[in-house]
Amino acid sequence: MAETILVTGGAGYIGSHTVLELLETSHRVVVLDNFSNSHPKSLEVVKELTGQAFPVYVGDVRDKGLLEQIFQKEEVTGVIHFAGFKAVGESSQIPLAYYDNNLVGLLHLLEVMQSVGCRNLIFSSSATVYGDPQELPLTETAPLSVTNPYGRTKLMGEEILRDLFAADGSWNLVILRYFNPIGAHPSGRLGEHPQGIPSNLVPYITQVACGLRDHVRVFGDNYATPDGTGVRDYIHIQDLSRGHVAAMKRWATGSGLSVYNLGTGQGYSVLEMIRGLSQTAGQEIPYQIYSRRPGDIAACYADPTKAREELGWEAQLGLEEMCRHAWKWQRLNPNGFQD
Ligand code: WQD
Repeated sequence: MAETILVTGGAGYIGSHTVLELLETSHRVVVLDNFSNSHPKSLEVVKELTGQAFPVYVGDVRDKGLLEQIFQKEEVTGVIHFAGFKAVGESSQIPLAYYDNNLVGLLHLLEVMQSVGCRNLIFSSSATVYGDPQELPLTETAPLSVTNPYGRTKLMGEEILRDLFAADGSWNLVILRYFNPIGAHPSGRLGEHPQGIPSNLVPYITQVACGLRDHVRVFGDNYATPDGTGVRDYIHIQDLSRGHVAAMKRWATGSGLSVYNLGTGQGYSVLEMIRGLSQTAGQEIPYQIYSRRPGDIAACYADPTKAREELGWEAQLGLEEMCRHAWKWQRLNPNGFQD
């Protein structure tokens, strides 16, 4: 039977790029999204870029009746579960919405998968589960600790999967811990559609570069890093998407539960990102130093060895491509998919 992959949250930034990658590697895809933090236009663009159509179900991953209908009708053989809220700051303001959406959503998905006998899952986790790393680069065995409700939903989600596998070893569970996804499809037609003021660094920088905002706020320049500003492992969204297609190989190797860091292994500071995007945009990008943002850590970057050795995957695109594609998307779509 041909593989049919259900992508929950498939209209989102990572979801839409992963749907495109799945289609381009000859997989059949079905998308479920409630567009609560994404735009339907992203899926229209994916259809145009690939020349392929695919079923899109508009609804909530907590709706078990809808999930059952999708699994039966589409003969789903595996699930990539992106659907969830992901803003660290917001999660402290509305924790119950984060626990409901992220954890009840996961539980209902797993319950339906169990009832229909679909055991193949890729779970979208985050480097945020490592908290403030004591040792760098980060391997998958590094200690886990979280300091915000969003991070707790990711860590609890992982624990739910570990408990499920301990109770029933027939599952095929892959946990992917993303570092900092940035950039866009090279066409400039698919990218991150931030709602309101971007909390993430790169979309904020590109909005300053195209005149939507006055200056970049550098949250702290007194961290124990080479230039005092925060260091992160930025990974091109296309590399991240390809990591999901590579992770699906684990479904073919018998049941198991595995965890992989999806990062490049290379950290860049805030000032290095501003410099990189300035060079790409061919203009100075103004910034001012502000005090640290509560909850931020000094540095975080991956040891990507395990994914390379076990999945045959490693990031291919460097800072220049990340900046070039991020800038092209922003320049061509000042208001994201709203245009
Ligand atoms: C990067 C660096 C900031 C904005 C978050 C989530 C993480 C994941 C990715 C979901 C830091 C600095 C930022 C700004 C700045 N999301 N910064 N000015 O915080 O590493 O990770 O997004 O999974 O879970 O925690 O990403 O882009 O917000 O910050 O100086 O306007 O840029 O201090 O050093 P972060 P970020």
